Amino acid sequence: MIYARIAGTGSYLPGEPVSNDDLVARGIETSDEWIVGRTGIRARHLAPQGMVTSDLARVASQHALEAAGCKPQDIDLIVVATSTPDYIFPSTATLLQSKLGITNGCAAFDLQAVCSGFVYALTVAEKFIRSGSHKRALVVGAEVFSRILDWSDRGTCVLFGDGAGAVVLEASDLPGILGSALHADGSHHPILCVPGSVAAGQVVGDPFLRMDGQAVFKFAVRVLGEVAHEVLADAGVGVQDVDWLIPHQANIRILQATAKRLGVPDDKVIATVAAHGNTSAASVPLALDLGIRDGRIQRGQKLLLEGVGGGFTWGAALIHY
Ligand code: UT7
Repeated sequence: MIYARIAGTGSYLPGEPVSNDDLVARGIETSDEWIVGRTGIRARHLAPQGMVTSDLARVASQHALEAAGCKPQDIDLIVVATSTPDYIFPSTATLLQSKLGITNGCAAFDLQAVCSGFVYALTVAEKFIRSGSHKRALVVGAEVFSRILDWSDRGTCVLFGDGAGAVVLEASDLPGILGSALHADGSHHPILCVPGSVAAGQVVGDPFLRMDGQAVFKFAVRVLGEVAHEVLADAGVGVQDVDWLIPHQANIRILQATAKRLGVPDDKVIATVAAHGNTSAASVPLALDLGIRDGRIQRGQKLLLEGVGGGFTWGAALIHY
């Protein structure tokens, strides 16, 4: 039997942290007290002008390749989860392939599931590896969400940040991904969307992120609980056997409510939202890489990754790291 295991991880955050007070100084009508109280966010990173998603993805990928002990040419599949691609086309994955100097002609494509993107991408790459068609995949979540924020809308612009996380997923004789589940319900698309497009050289509709925060909050807490139970039950693993819960990092209150519903203590949750804000598809691999590099996550442990985002989409993956 062929399985897929995480061989190495990497991440990248652009520039210096931008604090809540920095946002106030830039003229946004908000306060550190409001943002921390409602979301737990204290800072975020914002990509400088000219830096695009594939640039963030490149650095995160190089760190993941080093951690996995492999060369760029060893990669035979690239999947990039992003909602903020460099271009309409070609895909950010092909641009990343070029920036990494991968010339072996490997398959490369983007995957769009907003904040669930990384969990979707990991699950898709796992299927390629388990089928035997591919041996070593680079799976990336990378975003420049700052480019799709309406900086005059204080209800959304304070919540998001830019960043990238990457994983090298490789074929293995031993199980690495123990189970996963992906879901979507498109009927909820109006509560979190960027309802715009480009046609005839013009932006059609609205090119900024729009959100009904309270509706998203309730939906996220419900589905993150449901999908976690689903994946654990399918794998025959008890919640007490999960070493680390690594949920999408949108709001500390969502993370805490999800952990409480599952019966996971707060000290088993990897939380980066205070320092990174919500980096959409990058949030889960960023948190994963941080937990590995600071020594909390150890080989042999069980990790439960979860994502929820626009679409609506949601999913979870149980990993034997
Ligand atoms: O990846 C998924 C992405 N999104 C999420 O996970 C977001 C989920 N939702 C949330 O995290 C919360 O709903 C928010 C943090 C977005 C908002 O918290 P809330 O408790 O739902 O606040 P609200 O939208 O009901 O707004 C409450 C008040 C309003 O003032 P009034 O009408 O009560 O006078 C807002 O105008 O807070 C005001 N407000 C702000 N005040 C200071 C909204 N944004 C801000 C702000 N600073 N940045």
